[in-house]
Amino acid sequence: MDNKKFLRFFSVLLINVTSVICLTDPPKIKPFRFDDNIREGDVASVMCLVTSGSKPVKFQWNQNGNPISISNKNVRIEDGTIHSVLVFDSVKLTDDANYTCIAMNAEGQDSFTTELNVKSSPKWKIEPKSVVTQVGGSVKVQCIAFGSPRPSIKWRKIIPEGNEFMDVKPPVANEKDFSYGTFHLDSVLESDSGFYECIASNGIEPNIRNNFSIVIRDDIHQQFIQIYYALFFTKVFVSHICTAYSKDAPKIQSFSFPENVVERNMVSVTCIVATKTKPVTFTWLKDNIEINALEESIRFSTLDEVSVLIIDSVALENSGNYTCSATNSAGNDKFTTSLKVKASPKWIEQPLDLITTIGTTVTVRCLASGSPEPIIQWTKKDGSKTVNVNPTASTDTKDSSLLRLSPVSYEDAGVYECMADNGIPPVITSNFTLTIRGRNISEDAF
Ligand SMILES: *[C@@H]1O[C@H](CO)[C@@H](O)[C@H](O)[C@H]1NC(C)=O
Ligand SMILES: *[C@@H]1O[C@H](CO)[C@@H](O)[C@H](O)[C@H]1NC(C)=O
Ligand SMILES: *[C@@H]1O[C@H](CO)[C@@H](O)[C@H](O)[C@H]1NC(C)=O
Ligand SMILES: *[C@@H]1O[C@H](CO)[C@@H](O)[C@H](O)[C@H]1NC(C)=O
Ligand SMILES: *[C@@H]1O[C@H](CO)[C@@H](O)[C@H](O)[C@H]1NC(C)=O
Repeated sequence: MDNKKFLRFFSVLLINVTSVICLTDPPKIKPFRFDDNIREGDVASVMCLVTSGSKPVKFQWNQNGNPISISNKNVRIEDGTIHSVLVFDSVKLTDDANYTCIAMNAEGQDSFTTELNVKSSPKWKIEPKSVVTQVGGSVKVQCIAFGSPRPSIKWRKIIPEGNEFMDVKPPVANEKDFSYGTFHLDSVLESDSGFYECIASNGIEPNIRNNFSIVIRDDIHQQFIQIYYALFFTKVFVSHICTAYSKDAPKIQSFSFPENVVERNMVSVTCIVATKTKPVTFTWLKDNIEINALEESIRFSTLDEVSVLIIDSVALENSGNYTCSATNSAGNDKFTTSLKVKASPKWIEQPLDLITTIGTTVTVRCLASGSPEPIIQWTKKDGSKTVNVNPTASTDTKDSSLLRLSPVSYEDAGVYECMADNGIPPVITSNFTLTIRGRNISEDAF
């Protein structure tokens, strides 16, 4: 036996002798800690070593004060006579906790706690969605990432020319929101529209980035977007409800046009069918007559189970009953809804200036179209005053478009105005001058 070997043998003997000598000592744990910079997926381990105390020693590990469950497949415990090793073969973010080693023997116990800090690069919890708003509207976009340490969020605006970026300076009041991941503007300006990027970083590579846009819209734009979303979401929705129907004839969900459709608006209805049997053929009818797809003002946009009827610029003639008919190999379903287009008043007949003789009957017509039907009001300028004229006072007709004066007197002479109003602006007016020639004067003239 050479010196080295002898020395080793001797030291082992010494340890054994020590433990024999200190037979009545409780265990004493040597402090330990996890490596720094442990990242998700890494191996992590600590050894809890008892440097003194009587044997046998029993070990127990706690996670945040509770015994580690054996069902946690992620962790292994390897016990020796005076040590116990805690091993994570592939660390998860959820393993981030305080770990306590408890060593017990007949004389007592010792414990030691250390923290496992799992570092992880940022990952998205909430990704941003593009928003459509108006000038003056408010905007809230969330870009929320988790990771360890907690990621902070930076916002940049993408400048299309030259693919440059510009840091977004958050409004002072919302600074905190921004760095925690909420982009928040109370009152949007025209200049806020554009493409944005959010970047989450926490010092652990890689950083992640995402983008979204803020669209400032006019009304037509909004309607396009609504149709787009209607198509998109109903497609998702339909695929869910379809499974609920066993008989597989198409079943149309009820639908209706918006209430206040005014001339020249864009308007659409969406006909959604629940069926698993494809293909589905859609037909649209207006007042029971099939709409020709080539008709200028009306378009269709059809996906598997959805058909949208779009009128780009509604006219009064588009009012009527619209039927969506859906057919597949298992059957057919129909649904009808009516469209009432509202239109501001327009003149059909306007009165002309009139010269008449006293005592005759004067009938003047002021006729306007519109939907709902306009009501005509008559007024007369009497010097600086304007007085209402009741068109039916001197007649038996209830038609407000007709002004009848019988017999005319000198007092009836003047400027008259008729006004057509149906609640849909603008109100229109027309005027005419009634001149009365006295019979007495003309008689005198001859
Ligand atoms: C570990 O314990 C310390 C001190 O009690 C505490 O501040 C820390 O939050 C704990 N860590 C975890 C991951 O629970
Ligand atoms: C926005 O993100 C998408 C997908 O992440 C990417 O394809 C697109 O190029 C990005 N747009 C801009 C303007 O960076
Ligand atoms: C539309 O249907 C309703 C109710 O069935 C009916 O009263 C109305 O006259 C119809 N309109 C047209 C223009 O056919
Ligand atoms: C009558 O109508 C004409 C043309 O529409 C207008 O120029 C004129 O001012 C009107 N007169 C009165 C008195 O309202
Ligand atoms: C003509 O009629 C006007 C208005 O009624 C009256 O003031 C006037 O005296 C009449 N003249 C004659 C000659 O009758």
